[in-house]
Amino acid sequence: MIGTDLNKAINFLKQGELVAIPTETVYGLAANAFDEKAVLKIYQAKNRPQFNPLIIHSNAIEKFTSWGLILPEKLLQLATRFSPGPLTYVIPKSNQIPDMVTAGTDAVAIRIPNHPIALKLLSELDFPLAAPSANPSGYVSPTNALHVQEQLGEKVSYILDGGECNVGLESTIISFLDNVPSILRFGGLSLEAIESVIGKVNSSFNNQHAISPVAPGMLSRHYATKHKLIVGDVEKNILQSASQKIAIISFHKKYNEVVEAHQFILSKNKNLEEAAQKLFSVMRAIDKLDVDVILAEEFPEIGLGRAINDRLKRASIK
Ligand code: TXA
Ligand code: MG
Repeated sequence: MIGTDLNKAINFLKQGELVAIPTETVYGLAANAFDEKAVLKIYQAKNRPQFNPLIIHSNAIEKFTSWGLILPEKLLQLATRFSPGPLTYVIPKSNQIPDMVTAGTDAVAIRIPNHPIALKLLSELDFPLAAPSANPSGYVSPTNALHVQEQLGEKVSYILDGGECNVGLESTIISFLDNVPSILRFGGLSLEAIESVIGKVNSSFNNQHAISPVAPGMLSRHYATKHKLIVGDVEKNILQSASQKIAIISFHKKYNEVVEAHQFILSKNKNLEEAAQKLFSVMRAIDKLDVDVILAEEFPEIGLGRAINDRLKRASIK
């Protein structure tokens, strides 16, 4: 059921049930992180491998420390600027965090989402919410309540409606497990913004060892559309897909070779934030069209363009 009743959401969560929650990045599939039975329901509903750990969410840094977590200096510097916000920190776990949440690893991912309803909800809870994106494992993340309803409607007790997500891409993940912080996933906060606060970080991960063994979702096909997706030179790929029904995802350009109804321009004004915000809902919309292939441009490798390219490339892996 979709609704805006905060008390209903709170009650379900206290009873160990699943509630989909809005955040500024994407909708999350939330459960009480301290209740292992509730957390298990997340893995089951998403059909997510149990070796892929979950992010825990709360509304204040002090709550994380009260749960025994030790926050490094650079994390605190980032948090002052960007939390609440689209940034997730990976740090050593404490005994209070169940192994079910961290998939048996010694590290936990923590985040304070920047959404008024999520913050209000979290402020009323004395436990963190474990919440992956509210999509079946491997598919595109949901950026509104209806997206959640379509795919997981039967499996959640309640979908708390907080409107369209205004970032539209998952959070950036930064790890503090080594001396030099490293980016594990590009996302809603740019590398440039992070480095402007704590200086150079390691961002040279590649698909082979991103979040190494603990995050198989980062290793292969992910964020994937049902239709085949090809990233790269769209002009050239149009020629090569001549006999097929094509849909296009472009930054700001129009292609005369393809009907307008099948062209999805993410930002006429060449704004990467706007493009990021629209990407997943466009991928979902195209999946409902009768097309054979989606041709996507490669976006500029700056700001949120890095995260857009990352999602498109993962979606294109067969
Ligand atoms: O924006 C977001 O981060 C959304 C919203 C709901 O907060 N959540 C999200 O969760 O994207 P999920 O589970 O779809 O993606 C989280 C990623 C996964 O690739 C997971 O492997 C990685 O974070 N992760 C979680 N805990 C980790 C840990 N302890 N160490 C390394 N990676 C971790
Ligand atoms: Mg996800």
